[in-house]
Amino acid sequence: MTLPIAVLVSGRGSNLQAILDACASAELDARVAIVVSNHAGVPALQRAALAGVPSAVFTVRAYADRDAAHTAMAATIAGIGAELVVLAGFDHILAPVFFVRLRGVPVINLHPALLPLFGGRGMHGDKVHQAVLSSGATESGCTVHRVHPETVDLGEVVVQRRVPVLPGDDAATLAARVLDEEHIAIVEAIRRFVPAEAVTRV
Ligand code: GAR
Repeated sequence: MTLPIAVLVSGRGSNLQAILDACASAELDARVAIVVSNHAGVPALQRAALAGVPSAVFTVRAYADRDAAHTAMAATIAGIGAELVVLAGFDHILAPVFFVRLRGVPVINLHPALLPLFGGRGMHGDKVHQAVLSSGATESGCTVHRVHPETVDLGEVVVQRRVPVLPGDDAATLAARVLDEEHIAIVEAIRRFVPAEAVTRV
């Protein structure tokens, strides 16, 4: 059964693109039912439009507060029938009301490091890679994990992929190496939520 998913984005959307491409090539038995952003005008929204996928923008500024914005966002996602929520470069912590409204729908997040290392509040994008380099770690990677209310980067790991940290790396070179693995990991993680084909007995 084709899994309807909602993808939450905030910027470039290269991981969204990897998901759209995997769905289009039938490599992944899923369908992006909606792309949701917390910022207007970002490239990820253009990618959704080019793929013919509906999108919606929920800025906190347009609502009374984060709870109101995330309640509206969850209602839209529930209304479209998404059965998995994928945070692919989403830079805002989801309010607990989001999970209440979408009870029973799993939420997963992509993080550009090997959790539980280099995660937590404020750890997004290049900050993560800088922290890895400053630590002297010889390895990094990416993690797709479950998301639960009131926690950041602490949910059960779904998929991890590793890369070496190479001499002379800076945040940009390390980010690029990790990003290639993210594009594989996010598709693999979504695949784990696709229901197995029902076996028909005759
Ligand atoms: C990705 O590297 C993702 O791991 C990171 O944002 C980037 C989004 O790229 N997410 C985090 O840092 C979450 N803490 P994309 O917009 O090209 O998919």
